[in-house]
Amino acid sequence: MSFDANRPDLTVGVIGSGAMGRGIVQVAAAGGINVLVTDSRPGAAQEARDFVGKMLTRAAEKGSITPDAAAAALNRITVVNGPADMKPCHVVIEAIVENLDAKRQLFAELESIVSPECILVTNTSSLSVTTIAAKLKSPQRFAGFHFFNPVPLMKLVEVIDGLLTENWVSEALMVLGRRMTREPVRCTDAPGFLVNQVGRGFTLEAAHLAYEGIASFVDVDRVMRDVGGFRMGPFELMELTGLDVTQPASALIYNQFFQEPRYRPNLIMQSRYEAGVLGRKTKKGFYDYDAEMKPIVAPEAAAPAAYPGHVWVSPAEPHGHKVLTELLTKIGAKLETGPKPSANALILVTPLGDDATTCAVEQELDPKRTVAVDTLFPMVKRRTIMTTPVTDHVYRNAAHGLLASDGVPVTICRDSPGFIAQRIVAMIVNIGCSIAQSRTAQPADIDKAVTLGLNYPNGPFKFGEVLGPQRIHQVLTSMYRIYGDPRYRPNIWLTRRARLGVSLLTPEL
Ligand code: NAI
Repeated sequence: MSFDANRPDLTVGVIGSGAMGRGIVQVAAAGGINVLVTDSRPGAAQEARDFVGKMLTRAAEKGSITPDAAAAALNRITVVNGPADMKPCHVVIEAIVENLDAKRQLFAELESIVSPECILVTNTSSLSVTTIAAKLKSPQRFAGFHFFNPVPLMKLVEVIDGLLTENWVSEALMVLGRRMTREPVRCTDAPGFLVNQVGRGFTLEAAHLAYEGIASFVDVDRVMRDVGGFRMGPFELMELTGLDVTQPASALIYNQFFQEPRYRPNLIMQSRYEAGVLGRKTKKGFYDYDAEMKPIVAPEAAAPAAYPGHVWVSPAEPHGHKVLTELLTKIGAKLETGPKPSANALILVTPLGDDATTCAVEQELDPKRTVAVDTLFPMVKRRTIMTTPVTDHVYRNAAHGLLASDGVPVTICRDSPGFIAQRIVAMIVNIGCSIAQSRTAQPADIDKAVTLGLNYPNGPFKFGEVLGPQRIHQVLTSMYRIYGDPRYRPNIWLTRRARLGVSLLTPEL
């Protein structure tokens, strides 16, 4: 079947004109497409058209489109009474309530109205595209077309092949997406598709480590911003989205994957969700807020003036040993070079995925003097250190004072396989690799979707390349060994490429 998504008279129907529908209407009309829009709530579609008109006027005032183009786009939008008026459409986009029965009922109705060549798509964010299509007479012309909120600002659209979707349908949607000035990325149907699947690595791993008492919410957010390079920390992000959205989506993805441990939700999210402590929208979540809705956060305590007499850096991790030794030399620490630490030296270890306790026990070091330093990420904007449960506060303070002595802030966390950033980023990479292994999407497309849809500094594969596939593999292997939890087992895509010493982007024939 050939389908020309660039034809000048292309007509697209949009059903449901809420937050998403109106955004889709706007970008379609701005892309030169005729749009028919309807909503089951009387007056809603007209309100949406008026809203889009205002948005287009504002865009013209800002100079991003000409006033003529704005007027022409608005003229392309026609409010219609209901699905029965969608007969002339070449494509119908559904953006109604997130309810399987409601969506199935609507598509069954549409099938009896539109032509046999008309493409039918859903903007569902959490339901299976294949499941919605299952009751259709022609599921082969059905696909997912998943936009992001707010649509005009978020360039990504995921084009999702259901099990029975024919190739021409998805290819047409890729062209249509570009015509709507989006950046389309193609994938096959999977729980959470691309973006919402990878996003579990960031939020859920943060929740798991906070639940374990490793670090406070604010410390996790600081580390992920300053060390991981994320614009927002995982708890700040959940505050913004709201746990009424994030928690049910997490539980759904976990169950859709038959309780795959990698996606296991955490009680700290569930209990807040149940208590209605949802984030910014309830003025209380992981953070409390002041009258101006600024999070109430105690200022970071100044680093102690303590300084160690002598410092011994474990050579067990050659890379970590090298970068930490270079940093300490620059700072002016008194470094020991012997094979073992002297009697009173501060002992620094640089684990990848091991906790400080494992380092001390396996390397036969004094755990009271042992402090671990995260050297996987650049130690430029912030440094993360952690202690064993028995590290003496004198040695902890000495490590803190030393590593903060050039003005860089230091976050101390409790003993953790993978500190904070190592484990969260490793989970992101691991999920990215499992998406590639299941052939849901190509690595480059996964990275593109994640950077556009989640604003992460890197997609999972780029993170893997920058930090080193073998190091990420080592972080996960150590976490898996220490916790004994299959949640942390490295995905086979990652394992093979790490063992072969090749890029994570390496495809198979
Ligand atoms: P919304 O509640 O803002 O809008 C839904 C609209 O659909 C409402 O105006 C409602 O009156 C209308 N509606 C409900 N049932 C209808 C029916 N049977 N026929 C016609 N109109 C009907 O919801 P929103 O946020 O726009 O979400 C719509 C869809 O987009 C959902 O499937 C959602 O999962 C998905 N989505 C939402 C995102 C978001 O961030 N809000 C992001 C990506 C996808």
